[in-house]
Amino acid sequence: MGLRQDILLFNVESEEELERINTLAKKHRKPARVALRINPDVEAHTHKFITTGKKENKFGIPYPEVKKIIARRKNYSKVEIMGLHLHIGSQITELAPYREALEKTMHLLKELETESNYHPQYLDLGGGMGIIYQNEEPFTPHEFAEMVTPYIANKGITLILEPGRSIVGNSGILVCKVIYRKKGVGKNFLIVDAGMNDLLRPALYGSYHQILPLQEKKNSQEVYDVVGPVCETGDFLAKERALPSLKEGEFIAVMGAGAYGFSMSSNYNSRPRAAEVLIEEDKFYLIRRRETYPDLIRLEAIPPHLQGE
Ligand SMILES: Cc1ncc(COP(=O)(O)O)c(C=O)c1O
Repeated sequence: MGLRQDILLFNVESEEELERINTLAKKHRKPARVALRINPDVEAHTHKFITTGKKENKFGIPYPEVKKIIARRKNYSKVEIMGLHLHIGSQITELAPYREALEKTMHLLKELETESNYHPQYLDLGGGMGIIYQNEEPFTPHEFAEMVTPYIANKGITLILEPGRSIVGNSGILVCKVIYRKKGVGKNFLIVDAGMNDLLRPALYGSYHQILPLQEKKNSQEVYDVVGPVCETGDFLAKERALPSLKEGEFIAVMGAGAYGFSMSSNYNSRPRAAEVLIEEDKFYLIRRRETYPDLIRLEAIPPHLQGE
């Protein structure tokens, strides 16, 4: 499909993938433009599940391999290697890991130039720019630009970025309703109608999401574990969180749910997924309707011999 659509670049992250694309390009008689995703082996100082540029991570091609591929690039007759690609992780709040990765990449590019007379047209630095969930102090786009520009200025390289979270993370909230307030042993639970199937980040990464009551409240605070209705102890949205006292039927907003929220949601525990609503000024639009129970089995089929009369 990418070949048919004549996309700008396939970011290729192994030699095996390069070979596959070369074969497909031959078959479809459509040359492919690619960038090699390199693994710069840098520590991004983020959660270990979203660090993607360390040598032990599954992503990217180690530098020595990149050099070998570039040296024999003529063997891939249907593929044009237009440049390099990196994506070192997600929710990165410091510039230092990007700087380290860039330093290494520029060094590699120099070697590729002298050893293989290779000049890239594109350098794709991926995404990963962190946002504020709690009290993080991420670098700004301006600071990022100031750091990157000296490396690539006047080199005839076009810079590509792939920010995801930093565009949408703080533009989405998850609204849920308090179903029960439950007194546990030495703990209060707020059981709400959204769970890990709706927002997986707390369960998956232990992530912090700010929680606010939908209506402003001035009453006293209580400490709750905010949990969902799913059959997993990992089904929580917040732990030991001080919140204004909330009653059954009241609503809370889980902030910062715009990235890796709905896209990571699932139907686990036969839970239909939430509706998505776009808010624009004082107007709102339903942009994805709430799922129904028929939606849950829509794609299933019963083999003929198991069908009843
Ligand atoms: C290759 C690549 N580029 C960009 C992104 C977006 O990352 P982020 O949302 O951290 O900006 C990802 C996320 O996994 C990715 O794998």
